[in-house]
This record gives sequence, C-alpha cells and structure tokens, in this order.
Amino acid sequence: MRDTEKNNFPLSALSTLGTGGTAEFFTQPDSISELQKILKAAKNLPVYVIGGGSNIVIPDGKINGLTVCTRSLNFIEWHNNSTAEIGAGFPLPLLLKTLTERNLGGLEFAAGIPGTLGGAVSGNAGAGGRGVCEFVDAVKAVDSSGEIRTFKRGEFEYGYRYCSLKGVIIVSLTMTFRKAQDDDADKREEFLSKRKSQPLESRSAGCTFKNPEGNSAGKLLDECGCKGLSVGGAKVSEKHANFIIINSNNGNAASSDVLELSELCAKKVFERTGIRLEREIKILIPCFFV
Ligand code: EPU
Repeated sequence: MRDTEKNNFPLSALSTLGTGGTAEFFTQPDSISELQKILKAAKNLPVYVIGGGSNIVIPDGKINGLTVCTRSLNFIEWHNNSTAEIGAGFPLPLLLKTLTERNLGGLEFAAGIPGTLGGAVSGNAGAGGRGVCEFVDAVKAVDSSGEIRTFKRGEFEYGYRYCSLKGVIIVSLTMTFRKAQDDDADKREEFLSKRKSQPLESRSAGCTFKNPEGNSAGKLLDECGCKGLSVGGAKVSEKHANFIIINSNNGNAASSDVLELSELCAKKVFERTGIRLEREIKILIPCFFV
C-alpha cells in the first residue's frame, strides 16, 4: 500500500463540521493517473468522494468501501493569459487570490466560500444568483472503470446549487476568466460583508437548506422559531437560522445530530408554512460502485 492509501481512516477532520466516522479504505491520490490506477485495481466497492469537506455530513460509524479525497489534485496549468486547467482539489479561496494576482476576475461572488474547486463545481457554489460553473469550459472526470471522461460546456447542465455531473469523480476543470475590472475588489468586499450575518466562528457545513424560489430559508426558519433548537451536540445558530453549528461545549457531536436537527427544522417550516425546504448540505453517499 502506498502512503497515499490507508485503512480504517478517521474522516471527521476532513469535514468542517468535524463529525463522522471511519473509512474502511481511504486514499488521497497525488495525481489523476494514480487515482485511475487505484480505481482500476479496486473491486466490488462503493466509492465516496470528499473535496474540501465544507458542505458535507459524513455518516457516523464505519464507512465501508473506498473514500477518495481529491485535495492533492491541486495543480493549476495556464494555457494562455485567461484559461487554465485547474485540479479539483485546488482551494477556491486560493483560486480567487491567484486570479487577482494575474489581473483576472469574474469569481468575486465566490469571495468567502470555502472548499475545493471540484466540490464547488459539483454543487455550483456561488452567491447572488451566480455560480462557479459559469466559468467552466470543460470538466475532466474519472468514471467507475478508472477511465477519463471529458464533458465540454453544453454537455452538462447547472443551475442554483446544482450541477448534472453525477456518478463520476471530477478531477480537473478548464476555466476561462475575464480581465480584472476596477470594481472587482469592491465586489469581493460586498460579498464578504454579506457573510457577517453568518456564524463563521463556529463549525458548520454552510447553509443547511437551499432558498426556496422567491423566499429565504433563513428567514422562514427564523420565523418558525428554529433558532437555538438543538439535538445532541448540534444547534441551530442564534445568528443565522439557516446554519446548523456544532455546540462548542459538546465534544461528542454526531453527524446524526446534525441530520435529525435539519429534519426537525424542515418539519417545523412545513407544518407552519406548507413549504418543503430542500437540504443544501450533502450527506456523503457513494459516487459509484467499482
Ligand atoms: N434572515 C432572517 N433570519 C435569519 C437569517 C436570515 O430573517 O436567521 C433574513 C435576512 O435578514 C435576509 C434574508 O433572510 O432578509 C436572507 O438572508 P441572507 O441575506 O443571510 O442570505 P441567505 O439567502 O440566507 C444566501 C446564500 C448563502 C450566501 C449568502 C450571501 C443560500 C441558501 N444561501 O444566504 O450561501 O453566503 O446568500 O451571499 O443560497 C451557502 O450556500 O452555504 C450559503 C451560506
């Protein structure tokens, strides 16, 4: 076994919530070809994928199968002044910094969003009606046979916190950015300041629910009295009702606490308003079976 592959590996430190169980087999490949080799050698296993871990709930207990962490696929190769192929593990905050240094822009709305680029693309992370998928020319992914698949713009769909690419591991993105504009720094500041209403000082997985069309999940949850509700070590933030945070006094918080609490909140909102909130935070489930 290479040092990038481990057995019975605890996953909690890989999620911003800090909860969750242990992977039966774990790998953090250093290159796309290494990931291909590992998948080609694996047999009869469910395969899970973790990027930056900032939007996921890792189930408690033993996670049978192979968990792949993409964080070491963190290369960036510039094809010309404005287009680059960027590894799925490249941190989104570092991409914003790199663009500023190269006098490029476009991703201002992503200021303050944590995680890796691969994770951001798989959920079309963004703010203010914008999403990172807007800048993607092509997606390189690896399928369950360990083969490379390329999806050009137009061959996948995206929308609000949605991208159609499922059942493959995204390994790199070819993206084109525009030239920097005078007000880019102001725009970044504007998006960062919107986050002042969020409990960034606490462990969380970001917004718990998507905003229903024409409405705000945070406002609905607040109006339905969810702030301060808790289950085990998880609590609805008193600062922003669409954030479930880990109670800092409770060292034993479980992912099941977070999920139960989210269900309790969704139930309260449905009973009071008839609106069914859709969860934005994702449960780690198999991407495919090999
Ligand atoms: N509100 C309340 N009570 C609360 C929270 C919010 O009344 O407890 C009200 C606010 O006063 C405001 C409205 O609800 O009038 C909307 O709240 P906010 O401005 O905080 O924006 P949001 O819709 O909750 C969205 C994204 C965030 C993103 C921010 C800032 C979703 C679900 N949320 O939040 O994304 O950071 O805009 O751009 O799309 C995420 O995806 O993880 C996330 C946090």
